[in-house]
Amino acid sequence: MEYEEIIKRLRGIIESPIRRIAPEYISKIEKDYDNKRKKSKAMFEEAKKVIPGGLEHNLSLRWPFPITMDKTEGCYLWDIDNNKYIDYLMMGAPIILGHNYPVIRDAIIELIREKGPAHGVTSEWEVKTIKEIQKHMPWIEKFRFHQSGTEAVMSAIRVARTYTEKLKIIKIGGSYHGWSSEMVYGMHIPGTKSLEAHGIPKDYQKHVIEAPPNNEKKMRRIFQKAEEKGGGVAAVIVEPLGGESGTHPVKPGWNKFLREICDEYNSLLIFDEVVTGFRLSMGGAAEYFGVRPDLTTFGKIIGHGYPSCGGVGGKSEIMDVLAGGIEGIKKKAYTGGTLAANPITAMAAYYAIKEIARTNAVEVAGRAGDKITKGINELFEKFELPFVAWNYKSILHIETGAPLALKMTDNDFLNQLNERKKVMDEFGAALVTQGVHILAGSRGYTCIAHTDDVIDETLKAYETVLKWFS
Ligand SMILES: Cc1ncc(COP(=O)(O)O)c(C=O)c1O
Repeated sequence: MEYEEIIKRLRGIIESPIRRIAPEYISKIEKDYDNKRKKSKAMFEEAKKVIPGGLEHNLSLRWPFPITMDKTEGCYLWDIDNNKYIDYLMMGAPIILGHNYPVIRDAIIELIREKGPAHGVTSEWEVKTIKEIQKHMPWIEKFRFHQSGTEAVMSAIRVARTYTEKLKIIKIGGSYHGWSSEMVYGMHIPGTKSLEAHGIPKDYQKHVIEAPPNNEKKMRRIFQKAEEKGGGVAAVIVEPLGGESGTHPVKPGWNKFLREICDEYNSLLIFDEVVTGFRLSMGGAAEYFGVRPDLTTFGKIIGHGYPSCGGVGGKSEIMDVLAGGIEGIKKKAYTGGTLAANPITAMAAYYAIKEIARTNAVEVAGRAGDKITKGINELFEKFELPFVAWNYKSILHIETGAPLALKMTDNDFLNQLNERKKVMDEFGAALVTQGVHILAGSRGYTCIAHTDDVIDETLKAYETVLKWFS
């Protein structure tokens, strides 16, 4: 679906009355949860006593209560009550080969059995893996492992400031770049600035500027102002598909514009490819859009679900400010991490990238993404629901309540946000009762194990649930 059409359809959702699952079906969902997920319910009661809110994972479905998972295989999950689900969360993007992929699993088991999990110094797997990354992304001349996407972003920002000797970081409103103090700014919905930044002193964020998405004029003004009296722009960091993996889609030409303006002002362009690397194409979003960033951040995507994974890569000249402990290098961006580049992570990344290429996973999962999106849109039409689905290959967006499509200027913003989030939560739970597990009911990822049969089964679940809307 084209950008303009997505934006029009999202506005259409916001401007039409909120559609909810009918109350009788809400009770049916609650009963189904209570009857079939007794162990999960009991586990949540226990968890609440020892875990704040009873839940550690932002991506878990929460209503009526979170499900405790037990086992994974291919495109399936099983919970501790032994219910089976077709999974579209896929750990929040990294799993494109299917859960518990044998080639990676067997290599890691062998590594642990024969050599032990980690030793805190260099292993041969680092260079081997970086060479695999370079085969597909030759613009990554040097690479440094970190322990998560959050850390990779912190590192990239520090590198950018050290290298350019400039101060400001421009972040696009509504984007997610992990939870570091500077990046918990302008999250989820453009314009929210420090709304979610509790426990973070204001000073920490005073050199981050939130720019509205897709607005060249405003971006140009921000650059001019920062250069005149703000210490200059060290970098613009973006999710190249748009905020929240494309929930706020980028308009055609936007990434190219960012490349040009960064060049004009000698600022760096950082692509956060935590979700898109090796999923949108083997060369990530950089290849997909034909735009080369100066720095690229990676996270879970390169470890295919094995902990603890992240890294930053880019041009040698820039990356060299990360060199640890080498004499003669004056400017140094300090980073660390005992578990960074541990053999398990580095080896998992090596086999994951090789296997993604060998199995043509980007295209295979992408075709599954096309098929399910088309099927869901046909069902929305059949039941005359004002919802919309679109996909970027294997990255799916299925908007029902569409809370993130709200603008802060929309009528009754906070109430609408809550109501629309409820629609999404209820839809996610309704799908669970039909054996489908998807991120908050609104975002999903396909893998090579989502065959035509699996998708047909998923569409049956959607058809059942969509009939429940009043
Ligand atoms: C685009 C993006 N950047 C950064 C992160 C943070 O990565 P991590 O959860 O590994 O810290 C995420 C996590 O989902 C992400 O989607």
